[in-house]
Amino acid sequence: MGHSKWYYLNKDNNIMKKNIHLFWLLASAIIGCDQKNNDEFDDSSSWRSIQTRILTPKCANCHVAGSSFAEQSGLILTEDVGYAETVSQNVKNAAAQKDGLEMVGTQGLPSVYKSFFWEKINYPDEDHFYNDHPNYGSLMPLGGDPLTNGELEFIRQWIVAGAPKDGKVVDLKVLEDTRRYQRPAFRPLEKPTQGYQLKLGPFEVAPNFNREFFVYQQVGNPTDVYVKRVEIEMRSGSHHFLIYNFRANTPASVMPKEGLVRDIWDANGGFLMQNAIAMQYHTFFGGTQWPRLNYTFPEGVALKMPANSGFDLNSHYVNRSKEKIIGEVYANLHTVDKSQVKYEAGILDLNNTNIFLPPNQKTTLQKSFTFNKQTRIAMLFSHAHQLMSEFKVFVEGGANNGKMIYYADDWEHPPILSFNDPLILEAGTKLRLEATYNNNTNQAVSFGLTADDEMMILFGYYY
Ligand code: HEC
Repeated sequence: MGHSKWYYLNKDNNIMKKNIHLFWLLASAIIGCDQKNNDEFDDSSSWRSIQTRILTPKCANCHVAGSSFAEQSGLILTEDVGYAETVSQNVKNAAAQKDGLEMVGTQGLPSVYKSFFWEKINYPDEDHFYNDHPNYGSLMPLGGDPLTNGELEFIRQWIVAGAPKDGKVVDLKVLEDTRRYQRPAFRPLEKPTQGYQLKLGPFEVAPNFNREFFVYQQVGNPTDVYVKRVEIEMRSGSHHFLIYNFRANTPASVMPKEGLVRDIWDANGGFLMQNAIAMQYHTFFGGTQWPRLNYTFPEGVALKMPANSGFDLNSHYVNRSKEKIIGEVYANLHTVDKSQVKYEAGILDLNNTNIFLPPNQKTTLQKSFTFNKQTRIAMLFSHAHQLMSEFKVFVEGGANNGKMIYYADDWEHPPILSFNDPLILEAGTKLRLEATYNNNTNQAVSFGLTADDEMMILFGYYY
């Protein structure tokens, strides 16, 4: 157990890294689309440059006929229909529709400001996007690196030129700017105007150390309140931050003392069992494996936070450097008045604890969970440890039978997939979790809490 931190140290992990290959496997292996060679660019018109240089390699893997992503977004970006699906088309997203946006208009400059397509890729406006348009979904490409500054500028100029199908209206030189938007440095969050703020730190993380701890904090809400939006901001170096509730049957003796910092590892990497004991009574409330989260529930949906709520806050930082680093976490729980809540959100926590991974081999585990009544899923993300190579979720039964709805190949930063139009599972439908682990150690690995053990959980919100 004492050596577990070395696994983290050896693994090439840049916390800001986004996995560009996230869905390529999915596209070619599962959906069976023909993956075009990236070098086959066609610059016979500006539109063809956009299609062959940007949309085909970076978008069409998800936006391809038959995929659940295409269905959810209503948008197909493959070569055959890319132009027809974008120019002068309506958008699917209800909030954007209400705001009068179209996919890509042909009025030139004014169309830039009316284009949902542009809004969805315009990463440099990230703050505006998430703060002012909480129901516009995620920035694209989902789970991947932002388009380069040059790609964005090329598309912008093409829209300004009236979004023509033919003709070269943008200089290809524009594409030479291959820099990308970088998220601004950590900024403490201001307290919400309506809601509560939870905060950890600043705290130190020793050189070459894998620090994980819990702190129990009372929220300070005397009455039931409804959380509409969760915003999290962390100093870099975070592996994850999770907000846990306690199960109703938690013995009083296990409830942690408020404010006490409970480290899981001592300075030598030894496991501090007494500080981890509360974990078996935890239920998920919120959290992220990304350095920043800004999640808003769909219109009319909110998560109930009962009066006098208290949470076990769980921060995990990984410091591979020779200097100590400083960690800090802010979490804002924005609330709304009960009168605005049509549906109370629930927490999905599908957990397979039946894990056995023989040494030196790949193992794929499956477990299905049945939904006994109609369920609308608003958000999903997977949780597993370092041996996980792929995590897939399929629908079994009903209209979407056999469809893959979630895919992760990065155990540290699984995509947080939010559905603005919820994924509807009819009564009797199942979700099948399928996780593949590559146990390259000489020991069998089973379910457990430490970094050397494994997990297989699908978290999410439903209503
Ligand atoms: C990993 C899969 C994935 C990739 C890659 C991806 N998208 Fe999406 N896209 C989605 C999903 C899922 C939605 C619906 C949810 C949302 O809007 O956040 C969506 C929605 C959209 C929408 C909104 C459609 C509407 O009418 O509501 C646009 C526009 C869009 N994507 C453009 C792009 C572009 C352009 C790229 C490439 C630069 C891209 N996407 C890459 C999965 C993906």
